[in-house]
Amino acid sequence: MAENIKVILTEAEVDARIKSMGEQISRDYAGKQVHLVCVLKGGSFFMCELAKRISVPVSLDFMSVTSYGKDTKSSGVVKIIKDLDDSLKGKHVIVVEDIVDSGRTLSYLLELLQQRGPASMALCTLLDKPDRRVVPVNVDYTGFEIPDKFVVGYGLDYNQRYRNLPYIGVVEFD
Ligand code: IMP
Ligand code: MG
Repeated sequence: MAENIKVILTEAEVDARIKSMGEQISRDYAGKQVHLVCVLKGGSFFMCELAKRISVPVSLDFMSVTSYGKDTKSSGVVKIIKDLDDSLKGKHVIVVEDIVDSGRTLSYLLELLQQRGPASMALCTLLDKPDRRVVPVNVDYTGFEIPDKFVVGYGLDYNQRYRNLPYIGVVEFD
């Protein structure tokens, strides 16, 4: 079965949006330092681009979680595969995600990180599929709201492929 990728957000559109998100964050956190927490692997491409566009001081950390669930569904029970290196205590944390789908993974993760005593915590996602929400999640910064389609690129994968695409596309099979 051949796969085709139909572009829904071009490289220029994504880059322009990330630039303005970085500017917005820089305004909102003026005079502070932000601590970006990337949820691997999907959030990594977005976080690197976003970090380059933030003009206040930035520190970075990474964590890797897996949800106990099958295929494209997630159960909301999260297992930490790789924890953060640094404490969150007193930091202005921004969790950076590729996509918020059902919201199960993130609501669990945000609650867990909140217990570590950050000065503040915000959520920044490149993509949001609001139609798919099962658990409410407060998203502070959203790149694009997209319809309920399975997308790849800019960190998002289909069976570990396509993360490196510099645009967002929908996988089509023919
Ligand atoms: P949820 O919000 O707990 O349902 O899970 C979100 C996670 O599912 C994301 O971080 C992605 O890893 C994955 N995911 C959800 N929708 C897509 C998609 O359209 N393409 C690729 N991965 C997706
Ligand atoms: Mg993810």
